[in-house]
Amino acid sequence: MKTNESHIYVIFGASGDLTKRKLVPALYALFVQKLLPANFALLGVSRSEFSDAEFRESMKKAIISFKEVSDDTQIEPFSQQVFYQHIQFDDGETYQALKQRIEALRAGQHICGNTIFYLSTPPSLYGLIPQHLAAVGLNMQDDGWKRLIIEKPFGYDLASAMALKETLLRDWTEEQLYRIDHYLGKETVQNVLVTRFSNGIFEPLWNRNYVDHVEITSAESIGVEKRGGYYDSSGALRDMVQNHLLQLAAITAMESPSSLEPVAIRNEILKVFQSLRPIKPADVRTNAIRGQYLASTIKQEKVTAYRDEEGVNPASATETYAALKFYIDNWRWGGVPFYIRTGKRLPTRVTEVVIHFKPTPHFLFSQGAVSNACNQLVIRIQPDEGILMKFGMKTPGAGFEVQTVNMDFHYADLSHIRIPSAYERLIYDAIKGDSTLFARTEEVIEAWKFLSPVLEAWKNDPEIPLYGYPAGSWGPETADELVEGKDMTWRYPCKNLSDDGIYCEL
Ligand code: BG6
Repeated sequence: MKTNESHIYVIFGASGDLTKRKLVPALYALFVQKLLPANFALLGVSRSEFSDAEFRESMKKAIISFKEVSDDTQIEPFSQQVFYQHIQFDDGETYQALKQRIEALRAGQHICGNTIFYLSTPPSLYGLIPQHLAAVGLNMQDDGWKRLIIEKPFGYDLASAMALKETLLRDWTEEQLYRIDHYLGKETVQNVLVTRFSNGIFEPLWNRNYVDHVEITSAESIGVEKRGGYYDSSGALRDMVQNHLLQLAAITAMESPSSLEPVAIRNEILKVFQSLRPIKPADVRTNAIRGQYLASTIKQEKVTAYRDEEGVNPASATETYAALKFYIDNWRWGGVPFYIRTGKRLPTRVTEVVIHFKPTPHFLFSQGAVSNACNQLVIRIQPDEGILMKFGMKTPGAGFEVQTVNMDFHYADLSHIRIPSAYERLIYDAIKGDSTLFARTEEVIEAWKFLSPVLEAWKNDPEIPLYGYPAGSWGPETADELVEGKDMTWRYPCKNLSDDGIYCEL
């Protein structure tokens, strides 16, 4: 892997929100840290008509609004390396013009043939743009590498993901494809690997003998905001579970790779995907719970129901909450339930992985207020990044009462360390040619295979309820019943915020 090789970074969908909020601020952060080569150009491409100067101005504003680094002094020199090209995505002619523009920039900026194409467009263009690029030879690597970064979602279901795979692999090799899943770029997700494989104390316990169950939560307090149109055709399962949460589960469950080589790590991740036990159609009702948020009042403010959000069908049956129980059928995890839940308009924003260890085999101290503590290791992915270990301790005084106490590490305590954004990390990795933290085609296909029975059943079986939950609550109460075991339930990092405790079937 080489760093800092001169290249052109081409962003399709350059007038879109992601470019402004994440991609350009991340590239600027790399520029400030001198992690971009001197001979570098950023070429924004989209349907809108902008001049180079207009595009530069709007990117300068974006860098200031969505700050990744405090240093503003480099904005001017950075923007001198920013250019713009208008295109009609479905018109082959304009790709010739794009090719000429790229060649002119190469000559003017002394850049070799290395090029990254980042698709930040509607998913319907993920097949079309790479085909057009290939038709004008922009996939050929004789004069330098060509890489294609593709945003999620990779397909809408198994059939469309397979079709997209075939289309892409006709003109591009798997090594050229970088399927971005921004969760893999999060520092704390990578820290799951470090926690597991650099500490001798955890790994011996990390299996069916000592782990009772694994819980993964990704809660958001926001609703669908301005993305109602997209979200209504997607839903929580496609938007969060198919990619981010299954990746997180795979990193939590994988075997130790033989090295840090991308292929070694990705092979282990793939094996987890291949071991996911399919949920039988007859079990979907009990093992996959879906919900949709209802209007409510949160801290004296009225919050709209999902069906009244802009761009959403007023009779929508799209889930804004999903919870699954599933198993990983392999030697390490045989019989250990994994629980995943995600939802919009929950009480707080939190993503965490909780390893629930089995209780001691004999309850010596069960006379006290709390019986033997069940140890939990909570890996907090966001927002308060860190690790929390819960364990039982003697309550001082007479008798042997046990209370649960915390050992808590917060990244924020390392005040001298800046946590780079997920996009900054992943963009930099793609520039270096390191695909470790990008999803491989087979992983994505396996994830769709696993979720297909749930998607099918939710679509076709009117008997499977879609539960309403008040915005600001923890989702349908029925989801509590997923978690097996006496007195077992999800970990609730904070209480319901909604004033309205009503849950109903929609
Ligand atoms: C995106 C989803 O992939 O991830 C969004 O499309 C979701 O709906 C977002 O809000 C969550 O990302 P993060 O980094 O804020 O947890």
